[in-house]
Amino acid sequence: MNAANFHNKVGSTNMVSRCVILVLVVTLIDCISPITCKNDTWDRFIFTQEWPIAVCEKANETGHKCLIPSQVNSWGIHGLWPTNGHTRGPTECHISKDFNFTMIKPLVEELQIFWPNIYADTNMSSFWKHEWEKHGRCATTLPATANEYLYFKQSLQLMKKFSASTLLKNKGILPSKTAHYRLDQIQFALMQQLGNKTVIVECTKDSATGLYMIFEVEICLDKKFNPINCYAIQDRQDNSDSGHFLRKHKSRCPRGQKAFEYPPIPKH
Ligand SMILES: *[C@@H]1O[C@H](CO)[C@@H](O)[C@H](O)[C@H]1NC(C)=O
Ligand SMILES: *[C@@H]1O[C@H](CO)[C@@H](O)[C@H](O)[C@H]1NC(C)=O
Ligand SMILES: *[C@@H]1O[C@H](CO)[C@@H](O)[C@H](O)[C@H]1NC(C)=O
Ligand SMILES: *[C@@H]1O[C@H](CO)[C@@H](O)[C@H](O)[C@H]1NC(C)=O
Ligand SMILES: *[C@@H]1O[C@H](CO)[C@@H](O)[C@H](O)[C@H]1NC(C)=O
Repeated sequence: MNAANFHNKVGSTNMVSRCVILVLVVTLIDCISPITCKNDTWDRFIFTQEWPIAVCEKANETGHKCLIPSQVNSWGIHGLWPTNGHTRGPTECHISKDFNFTMIKPLVEELQIFWPNIYADTNMSSFWKHEWEKHGRCATTLPATANEYLYFKQSLQLMKKFSASTLLKNKGILPSKTAHYRLDQIQFALMQQLGNKTVIVECTKDSATGLYMIFEVEICLDKKFNPINCYAIQDRQDNSDSGHFLRKHKSRCPRGQKAFEYPPIPKH
């Protein structure tokens, strides 16, 4: 799911291949039947943002070349992921068309700022293609995200409302070369502005300092794009390993009094 792997497209599952064959045999029937296909039911979105410096750190781990474009100076969208309960997915829903760059051409300028691909060794649109084909197509059962254009447009609108840059800044949490932040401090700052709903914060290791740095923020939304709990509030007390969702989702952020970095994006 993480940005470092975005270009490694998950191969077709057996289910999908079976559906492809079925479609070839039974022409014009799309792969939408829950009996022949995997279960594409979902009830919420996870709206995930990433901190470009941390994405570069990950890029280094996986041998990508990283370049933060000059227009990028804030958190970026990683994806808008239809999700079933406190789990992950569905993904790779073959219920709508493959990525078509032409469809999002009117949005490209904004996408380059708020949903940037900062892997310099990949095609500009490959991140968008990956997110659309893995996650976006599963969202097309909802009118607000019924096609590729609407899916990206909606994601940009969510960024205007829920940008982690703004939400953190509102609570005095600013990127800094020297100040470090604690997990509960970040979570509380975000929750306060999201109707007291729990969020997921992810970290990655800074190879230069050996410390952790903030990497992702995940906000959970209902199908009307209102914040909902990412996990039960009682699980917050011990969010290292309690709760179904959190067991599946091991955040690498240090807990307790240990703080982590939120390094500024260098001026271009
Ligand atoms: C799909 O998943 C939903 C939610 O978990 C469940 O209610 C539904 O029965 C499932 N449908 C099928 C066909 O398995
Ligand atoms: C990239 O990783 C190598 C070790 O794998 C490290 O020496 C180097 O400092 C890293 N570069 C950056 C920009 O973090
Ligand atoms: C992409 O979308 C454009 C505009 O709707 C259309 O003209 C074109 O045929 C599409 N390309 C593919 C490969 O479907
Ligand atoms: C990059 O993506 C665009 C839009 O999808 C496509 O037209 C172009 O051929 C791609 N370039 C390469 C080198 O793959
Ligand atoms: C947030 O939720 C917690 C746990 O349910 C509750 O104790 C607290 O009062 C709530 N705060 C606000 C501002 O609603």
